[in-house]
Amino acid sequence: MQILGIETSCDETAVAIVGDRHPRIRASLVLSQLAEHERFGGIVPEVAARAHLAHLDRLVSRALAAAGTGWDGIDGIAATGGPGLIGGVMVGMMLAKSVALARGLPFLAINHLEGHALTARLTDDVPFPFLLLLVSGGHCQLLVVEGVGHYCRLGTTVDDAAGECFDKGAKLLGLGFPGGPAIERLAAEGNAARFPLPRPLKGRPGCDFSFSGLKTALRETVAAWGGTDALSNRDVADLAAGLQAAIGDAMVERTTHAIRKFRQRYPTGSHLVVAGGVAANRALRAALSGLAARHDLAFLAPPPELCTDNGAMIAWAGLERLKAGLADGLDFAPRPRWPLDPDAPRAMGAGVKA
Ligand code: KG4
Ligand code: ZN
Repeated sequence: MQILGIETSCDETAVAIVGDRHPRIRASLVLSQLAEHERFGGIVPEVAARAHLAHLDRLVSRALAAAGTGWDGIDGIAATGGPGLIGGVMVGMMLAKSVALARGLPFLAINHLEGHALTARLTDDVPFPFLLLLVSGGHCQLLVVEGVGHYCRLGTTVDDAAGECFDKGAKLLGLGFPGGPAIERLAAEGNAARFPLPRPLKGRPGCDFSFSGLKTALRETVAAWGGTDALSNRDVADLAAGLQAAIGDAMVERTTHAIRKFRQRYPTGSHLVVAGGVAANRALRAALSGLAARHDLAFLAPPPELCTDNGAMIAWAGLERLKAGLADGLDFAPRPRWPLDPDAPRAMGAGVKA
């Protein structure tokens, strides 16, 4: 079985072909729109949608060629159906629906978060149920992945996502977008102890996250130092290290609470998995790997290129769903908001992100 997957929910146009036999990833192309968005200091939805439109057709042809197959070798078309920037999601879904209709193939609308969640099964066949820390530019959640289409959310962010904290922190430090990789690079040379930053929600029960206070603390520290332009290279490296350490400590503390719940409710569960763009961060992976070892759980983080947005995760989720008999109708409407666990209680703050 081979599935073609399309990801267009944010600023990467990505297409992949994934099969059920090893090596599973037959082709995976990711076209970053960074250059288009860089001068705006963030992602502009209209610019993103137009770029997807301009490049998607060509990427699909290239992916088929790279996998050495034609449409006859494809058994289903999967595209991100949300959550994400609606213009981009529409571009990907329209192409997938058109091909599905023209070729008589099953169409699969994939929840972008499910793509991240199931990546550890694409790479390592991690068994259900597993505990998942999903950390990306738009989301920061702790979930139990019980099975394909079955998720139990233990906690989410009450304000910003972890990736947003990296990105906004990087902007405050005068670094480029996206901020995560730049902060990680500089943090490796910095002294995390020089500028003490708060550990949001430390000591509070539960598995929710909060990052806006940390961002404010960083902004105040930079202002007290005379503003971004007054920072030396050493100051920036030390602040980057301080920010990364604070985010890492918060993740470890909140995940510790989740492990306790996971252990109580899912005694057969054996894995802690981290996924999403922020999971590409080596310091965070090391901290979470240590945490898992202390709690006698196996730890898994997909390779960095499968942590950030890609088409392979969408194709794989499509393959798992098709095998479970879960194809979608062509009337599926794109969803800007689409929680993985619609029954989850709201986080303790307002402005909850699903
Ligand atoms: O999953 P992703 O590619 O897109 C979303 O679904 O949001 O995640 C993008 C986020 C950005 O906020 C980016 O700064 C962050 O992942 N990120 C990182 C690293 N690489 C990407 N954060 C920390 N360290 C990294 N190495
Ligand atoms: Zn993502």
